[in-house]
Amino acid sequence: MADRYLSFTGTAPGRFLSRRLGLPQPAALRRWSPQRPSLDGALLRLTAGKSGLDPDLASVLSRTGLEVAEAVPAPAGALGVAAVVLDASGVRDVDGLGEVHAALHPVVRSVAASGRVVVLGAPLDAGDHHQAAAQQALEGFTRSLGKEIGRGRTVNLVRLTDASAAESTLRFLLSPRSAYVSGQVIHVGADAPTAPTAPTAPGDWDRPLAGRTALVTGGARGIGEAVAETLARDGAHVVVLDVPAAEADARRVAERLGGTALPLDITAADAGERIAAALPDGLDVLIHNAGITRDRRLVNMPAERWGSVLEVNLASVLRTTDALLASGALRRGGRIVATASIAGLAGNAGQTNYGASKAGVAGMVRALAPRALAEHGVTVNAVAPGFIETKMTAAVPLFIREAGRRMNSLAQGGLPVDVAETTAWLAHPASGAVNGQVVRVCGQSLLGA
Ligand code: NAI
Repeated sequence: MADRYLSFTGTAPGRFLSRRLGLPQPAALRRWSPQRPSLDGALLRLTAGKSGLDPDLASVLSRTGLEVAEAVPAPAGALGVAAVVLDASGVRDVDGLGEVHAALHPVVRSVAASGRVVVLGAPLDAGDHHQAAAQQALEGFTRSLGKEIGRGRTVNLVRLTDASAAESTLRFLLSPRSAYVSGQVIHVGADAPTAPTAPTAPGDWDRPLAGRTALVTGGARGIGEAVAETLARDGAHVVVLDVPAAEADARRVAERLGGTALPLDITAADAGERIAAALPDGLDVLIHNAGITRDRRLVNMPAERWGSVLEVNLASVLRTTDALLASGALRRGGRIVATASIAGLAGNAGQTNYGASKAGVAGMVRALAPRALAEHGVTVNAVAPGFIETKMTAAVPLFIREAGRRMNSLAQGGLPVDVAETTAWLAHPASGAVNGQVVRVCGQSLLGA
C-alpha cells in the first residue's frame, strides 16, 4: 500500500502545508542502488577525547568510498557533508562530553539529507564510574539527536575497541544500505559477549557471500523474499524455504535468484535434519525469518492461537538452530540471523503471544551468541523490524497503519529491503566481531525497548 502522505509531502505544496500545520515531515530516503551505491559528499571525521583507534580507523574510513575531511569542506557545495564520524571513544568524563558538543554543534546543520552521523564509543569501564557515565551519556545523546535531526538523516552509536573489526559495520552505517536504521547502539568486537579472533575480510566487498549458501525461512514473500534477493545480490546461493502451500511462490523467487526452493513446514519436529539432508554440503548463513501473528487479547486467546505463534516464531527457531549447530551442517564462520520485532521488545496490546515469541528470540540470541561462537565459530544476531510496508501491514486498519508509519524519527514505514540490508550486514563474512546483537530496523520507533 503506497504511502500517499510521503508522496504528498515530497511536493512543494505538500511541504508548505505540512510545515504550516506542524505535521510530520518525512523525507524520501536514499536507498542503495547499483547506480548509486554510496552516499554523495564528504565524510567529516571529528574527535572528542583522546582516542586510541588510529591508525586503523583512518584506513577503514578511507575505504568507505567517501572523501574524508577533518573540517566542513569550504564551500560545503550543493551536496554538503554526507556523513560525520565522531570518535568519542576516548571520552572519559563530563569535560569530554563538552568536546562532543563542541565538535558536533557547528557541523550538524551541514549534514546532507539522508546523511549519517555515527558516534564511536568505548565499552563501559566497570571500574571507572566517570568513564561509564560519560560513555553511557553517548547513548542518550545519540538517541536524542536521532529524534531531532530530521531530513532522513540517521544517528547511531558503535562501541568498539578495534576499528578494523568494525569495518563491515562502519561501511554499512555510512552507506545508503542503512537508510531505516537509526538510534541504535551496536557493540563490535571486544565489547560484544565474546571477543572473536580477527574478522575474516572478504575478498570482494561487492559480492562478499560468493561461494556461500544461505537458507531463508519464509523466503517466498515479504521480508524473506527481500532478504533472499539481497543475499543473492551479495553472491550467495540462496535456498528459499517456505510451507508446502507456498511452494509455487518459493520456486518463483528461487528461480529468479538462481537458487533452490525447499518446501518444508519449519515447525516439523525434524525440520533441522531435513534441511541438513537437503543441503549435503552444508550451509553458511541461516536466516530465521518465517513468522506469523494470531492476535487476540489474552482474555480471548485460546491455547491454539498461543501455541501456533510460539511454535513458528520461537520453538522452531530454537529446534532448527540446535539441530544445525549440533550436526555441523552450519559450517564454521557461519552466521545466524533471527527475526525479532519491536512489538516483542516493547510489547503490544493484542500480541501477548507474538510479543512473547519475539522477546524469546532476543533472549536466545543473547545467550547463544558467545557459546555458538566459541564452540562452532558461528555468530548469532537478530534484526528487530519496526513498521515495515508489507502485505501484513497493508491489512492493518487505516488509522493504526498511519500511526505506525509516522511514530518514528523518520516519520515513515520501512521497506522489506531495509531489513534485508541489515541482515546482509550481519551475514557478512567480515562481521565476525558483531555477535549477540539485536538491531532494530525501525526508523527509531517511539515504541521503546
Ligand atoms: P509474511 O507473512 O509476508 O511472510 C512470512 C513468510 O513465512 C510467508 O511466506 C509464510 O508462508 C512463511 N511461513 C509462515 N509459517 C511458516 C512455517 N511454519 N514454515 C515455513 N514458512 C512459514 O511476513 P513478513 O511481514 O514478511 O514478516 C517476516 C518476518 O518479519 C516475520 O518473522 C515477522 O514476524 C517479522 N516482522 C515483520 C514486521 C512487519 O512490519 N512486516 C514487523 C516486525 C517483525
